[in-house]
This record gives sequence, structure tokens and C-alpha cells, in this order.
Amino acid sequence: MIVVEKISDVREIVKDRKVQGMSIGLVPTMGYLHEGHLSLIKKAKENSDFVCASIFVNPIQFGPNEDYNKYPRDVKRDIKLLEDNGCDLVFIPSVEEMYPNERLTTVSVSKITNKLCGAYRPGHFDGVCTVVAKLFNIFTPDIAVFGQKDAQQVAVIKKMVEDLNMPVEIIASPIVRDEDGLALSSRNTYLSDGERQAALILNKSLKEAEKILNDGERSVEKIIDTVRNILESEPLCKIQYVSCVHPDTLEDLKMINDKALIAIACYIGNTRLIDNLLWGVD
Ligand code: PAJ
Repeated sequence: MIVVEKISDVREIVKDRKVQGMSIGLVPTMGYLHEGHLSLIKKAKENSDFVCASIFVNPIQFGPNEDYNKYPRDVKRDIKLLEDNGCDLVFIPSVEEMYPNERLTTVSVSKITNKLCGAYRPGHFDGVCTVVAKLFNIFTPDIAVFGQKDAQQVAVIKKMVEDLNMPVEIIASPIVRDEDGLALSSRNTYLSDGERQAALILNKSLKEAEKILNDGERSVEKIIDTVRNILESEPLCKIQYVSCVHPDTLEDLKMINDKALIAIACYIGNTRLIDNLLWGVD
């Protein structure tokens, strides 16, 4: 696996692979990799010839009171994991490499970024879209793979690509969970043993939503109430939001007709966790 820190090196290597007729796959990450990230590498390998990952804890997508400084980092371990999983190139730029001069340009998707996580993390999706647009310009990938764990991020990036005619296919990949059902997240390392146990309530609440949906429930109010009641039964869990929206437009649903995204964000102690259920989509 090739490890590069400079944008110019990425461009040179990608150009060479394209001349050889290879298609390019990109998996953007902020590192501290787990099986969720590695499932995206696998998906990229199935869909492209030359698989690239990026590791960059992107400062502009963190709010002033968020965890940019304490975000977990272990680049050595990440490189080994990527190599063992058949990644061909990893790009690990410094902040100066990505943002060398005063940045006057922001890529901003409106409307669908004002709800769900966006309502509680102002500016977050501007930071995500700006860095992802930069990565797309650096790599010019044919495909890019994102995890369904961050369902709003997938919808926002797909809209950015559509609106700006970016020549890349966005592939969404399913949520990877621990054996006990907790969705894998780099932020799970913040949880104490007790909190980790309490965090299982997120998946438990979504499982129940799935069950009543499969049993024929179509009222969004009933589904949201069910999820909220289960989350509220856990004393360590503080709900930020429980929403039921259309997975593409993120518009609030009243009744569920075909597909639905039930998305939740909760604090377990001081750690903010998100999870979701995508229902009615193959
Ligand atoms: P990060 O949180 O590191 O996640 C990188 C990718 O891994 C995202 O597409 C995310 O949805 C996916 N992922 C995380 N946990 C997952 C899980 N349990 N199952 C499946 N996929 C999972 O998301 C970001 O970084 C950043 O916002 C980024 C897109 C890199 C822009 O900075």
C-alpha cells in the first residue's frame, strides 16, 4: 500500500493508474478505523480497481465545543488495518496541506442540512461538503463509498454531487455493528463500561421500530413514541432527536408508505451517539 501526505503525489499516482485503465475508488475517513470503515474498503474493492482511503480529522466540520482536539487518533494502526484489508493507497494530509491559505470558499448544501444532526451541529455539513468536494477534486474518483451509519451525510453528499454535476458515483454501505448491536463508531472509545452497556438502548429502540413496522404499523407518531419510550427507559440516555424522514429528501413523514429513515441522536453521558434504521430499501 502506498502512503502519501501530499496532494501532488495523489494526483500523480491517480493519473498513472487512470492511464493504465484502472477505475478509482475513494473511502474518506477521519481515521481510528474499525470494521465499519473496513467494510467500506471492501465495498470499494468490489466496485473499483484502485482503492484509495483518506485519513483526515477535518477541523472545519467540528463545532467550537466539539471534540476536534480529543478525537481519537492512531495512524500507525490505521495504516496496518488498511494494508491488511487490501487498500491500495492512503492519503494522510496535514491540516496545512488541506487548508494552506485562508479559505474563502465553502460548499454548502441548504435545506436538508438544517434538520436531524444539522439542526444541532451548525456548520457541520458545510465542513463535510467542503472537505469531501476537495477530496473529490484531488482524487477524481469514479466511485466513493460512505457508510449508512451517517445517513444524513449520505443524503447531503448525494445532493451535492447531483447539484454540482460531480462525476462520481456515491455508494452507500450498510451499518456495521458489534455483536451486541452497538453501531461501530470511533467515538465509542469515549464510553465507560457502564455507558457502553447503556448505549445498547439505541439499537434496541430501532429494533422495536423495525418489528412494529414489519407487523404493519404505518403511523410515524406511534413509531416515534415507541422509540422515545424505549430510549427514555435508560437513565443514562438523553435524547437529542428521534425523527422519521424520507431517506433521500429527509422530509418529515406522517405516514410510512414505502421507505423510511428512522434516525436518532442521543447523549450517553457526555458522548453523542447516532444510529438509524433504513426501512423498505433493499
Ligand atoms: P468517519 O466518521 O471517520 O467515517 C468515515 C466513513 O465511515 C463514513 O462514510 C461513515 O459513515 C462510515 N462509518 C462509520 N461508522 C460506520 C459503521 N458502523 N458502519 C458503516 N460505516 C460506518 O464520516 C466521516 O468520517 C467524515 O465526515 C468524512 C466523510 C471523512 C469527512 O470528513
